Amino acid sequence: MNNIAYYNGKTSPIDEMMIPMNDRVVYFGDGVYEVAYVKNHKPFALYDHLDRFYNSCRMMSIDFYMNREELTDLVQSLIDQIDTDAECILYWQCSRGTAPRKHYFPNPPVKPNLLAYVKPLAIPPMKNRIKLITVEDQRFFFCNIKTLNLIPNVFASQKAEEAGCDEAIFHRGDMVTECSHGNISIIKNGALKTAPLNNLILAGTVRKHLLEFCNANGIPVDETPFKVAEMVGADEVIVTSTTTMMRAAYEIDGQPVGGKLPDLVERIQNGYVERIRKELNL
Ligand code: PDD
Repeated sequence: MNNIAYYNGKTSPIDEMMIPMNDRVVYFGDGVYEVAYVKNHKPFALYDHLDRFYNSCRMMSIDFYMNREELTDLVQSLIDQIDTDAECILYWQCSRGTAPRKHYFPNPPVKPNLLAYVKPLAIPPMKNRIKLITVEDQRFFFCNIKTLNLIPNVFASQKAEEAGCDEAIFHRGDMVTECSHGNISIIKNGALKTAPLNNLILAGTVRKHLLEFCNANGIPVDETPFKVAEMVGADEVIVTSTTTMMRAAYEIDGQPVGGKLPDLVERIQNGYVERIRKELNL
């Protein structure tokens, strides 16, 4: 099979899967999701995605019924049914369940719904630098939960698309938070600076791996918020996410940025590729 969808025990090709209208995800986006990278029939950093998934469920008071082992076995069984060793995306989401539309939680509680799919995904080459725009961050204060409420992210991403850019950088006033679907860091004076983990950003798995690489390789890490203006003077600006890995910017809002430490960027990117290679035995 080229792709596979799963919903509460049923499987089919993605285009044929149907979900009930009263799944609360339809009315409220009342659920959480994860996106993981797959190659050679193996998911990368699944432990990190599971950590964040169960954490998101806890913060949403969603009592998901599978434990880590059961969920791991399930996603692996889906991945096993794909007929390619090439790069794929594993997506899954869990909603609060199916119930007639009422804003408050169903009472008595209903069983959460699990939706998943696996499909091929081409990751853009990391060596290609990217163009960014800045957008005021108008999201709520639950950005640490990987919820399905993504409208401000959709608007920002659309704005980037219309501007011919690859990503939109969110800022609250002066301070940079993250991107529409990734985290952002800068390198200045040999140190990596990135916004701290709080309710204003999502704890990205690739951000975590980037910080681990820096810590292991003597690159100082400073988890304090940085200003929009600091990006222009930075030696490098790096955007991280599962579906684009680690990419450096060459332009923000039409102004040239970064490009001053290409060797360091390449070392960081190679470190990430190596980590994937090792974990997946590629
Ligand atoms: N998005 N911040 C936001 C708002 C995100 O949506 C994402 C990922 C990240 C980076 O997380 P990670 O490094 O674990 O991929 C940060 C995924 C890829 C998506 O929504 O498709």
